[in-house]
Amino acid sequence: SMHTELEKLLDTTTGEAEREVSRKDFEGFKNLFHRFLQVKGPSVEWIKIQRPPEDSIQPFDKIAARGLPDNVADSLNKLVVVKLNGGLGTSMGCKGPKSLISVRNENTFLDLTVQQIEHLNKTYNTDVPLVLMNSFNTDEDTKKILQKYTHHRVKIHTFNQSRYPRINKESLLPVSTNLSMNGQNTEGWYPPGHGDIYASFYNSGLLDQLIVQGKEYIFVSNIDNLGATVCGGGPVNHLHTSNVSIIAYSNPQGGTLIQYDGKLRLLEIAQVPKAHVDEFKSVSKFKIFNTNNLWISLAAIKRLQEQKAMDLEIIVNPKTLDGGQNVVQLETAVGAAIKCFDNALGINVPRSRFLPVKTTSDLLLVMSNLYSLEAGSLTMSPKREFPTTPHVKLGSSFTKVQEYVNRFESIPDMLELDHLTVSGDVTFGKNVSLKGTVIIIANHGDRIDIPAGSMLENKIVSGNLRI
Ligand code: UTP
Repeated sequence: SMHTELEKLLDTTTGEAEREVSRKDFEGFKNLFHRFLQVKGPSVEWIKIQRPPEDSIQPFDKIAARGLPDNVADSLNKLVVVKLNGGLGTSMGCKGPKSLISVRNENTFLDLTVQQIEHLNKTYNTDVPLVLMNSFNTDEDTKKILQKYTHHRVKIHTFNQSRYPRINKESLLPVSTNLSMNGQNTEGWYPPGHGDIYASFYNSGLLDQLIVQGKEYIFVSNIDNLGATVCGGGPVNHLHTSNVSIIAYSNPQGGTLIQYDGKLRLLEIAQVPKAHVDEFKSVSKFKIFNTNNLWISLAAIKRLQEQKAMDLEIIVNPKTLDGGQNVVQLETAVGAAIKCFDNALGINVPRSRFLPVKTTSDLLLVMSNLYSLEAGSLTMSPKREFPTTPHVKLGSSFTKVQEYVNRFESIPDMLELDHLTVSGDVTFGKNVSLKGTVIIIANHGDRIDIPAGSMLENKIVSGNLRI
């Protein structure tokens, strides 16, 4: 009956091109849904988990220390940078694509990405293109902005990921009654996670097109990870000179890489049986983490798609719609594919290569003098004594980007900050300096305005302080 419900949805579609896309989405969803119905029990058996073999995870320096190959331009010309751009800025209180949020000096995530690749192309006289995976949520707004890069030295391609129907939690039937995105049914659809990249990239025809142009590898990452830069492209060379077909960047913060059934595999906390969660969080077997940042052979992706061998674990994401209806959306994650490739390598990268901006607390760090911006890349200031990032925890009055912006007259000096906690109605004047551990708490009904020019070092501020 799921089948007929979906057929009915398909019938309401108009244009031929639109029908074709819907048909592919329909096929993809049917496949995912069938796999979802077949799943029994957890996707991993705890006792089968092993520590990855010694040489399957290498330190970043080992690859980087090899230096740039003489033919670095040749290597880079085989490369395509792919950014996952299907997500919205909702968690930071923004409408529209997350990539269009300003992160530094009016530059958005997308601006910085374009600058990084343009710089790479100018430095090595190469032609590395940028590919954006958009979703129906982000495509239109993103394309409008792309016009502004026409004269930059980066060829930009886009393709759209799939659009799948949300299904009712109990009946498992689609909640939408037609395919229109203009009507009342926007809540009936969702982009099925970044793991969708493999199928959508392949189905779009762009993957083949790039192979024909001589491209061999992709470097894929979240658009909000400002640390995911190509840099000399050492891993491209590694992919080229070894039998490895996928390289996963990992870091001690994110899922973890394990050995399972003789292959490297990603284990996310959501897959860990409840009884083992504490163990998962503590045991050294799990000290290596995923950064959603991968180098992958295009030929290998193509082969796995054609063999229908990309069986990514399904993530069941429950949601409640505005009207109160409980639904689930079936998703997959890009890193889940690691286990599908014959030869996988993990590279442990320093924290500086994993700079995700998920919250305004992260945003405060990347906007501050802890980092300097050069050609779209952020590097930690040499003036910071230890290359660690401070722990910043801004309270709920800072959650939305707009409120956050209004609460800082200028971004404080944070070069010597270790820990900052802010809670309640707090504002910062111009040129405030924060050092050591600083805690500022305005209780309900109170307000604290930190005066311009203040220097707070190892201080707790509370009560009521208005200026
Ligand atoms: P999210 O911001 O939604 O993921 O997307 P997360 O909460 O950090 O958790 P992980 O990374 O999934 O563990 C991360 C990136 O993936 C893109 C977003 O635009 C963002 O760049 N994304 C997410 C898609 O392109 N499509 C999707 O369906 C979901």
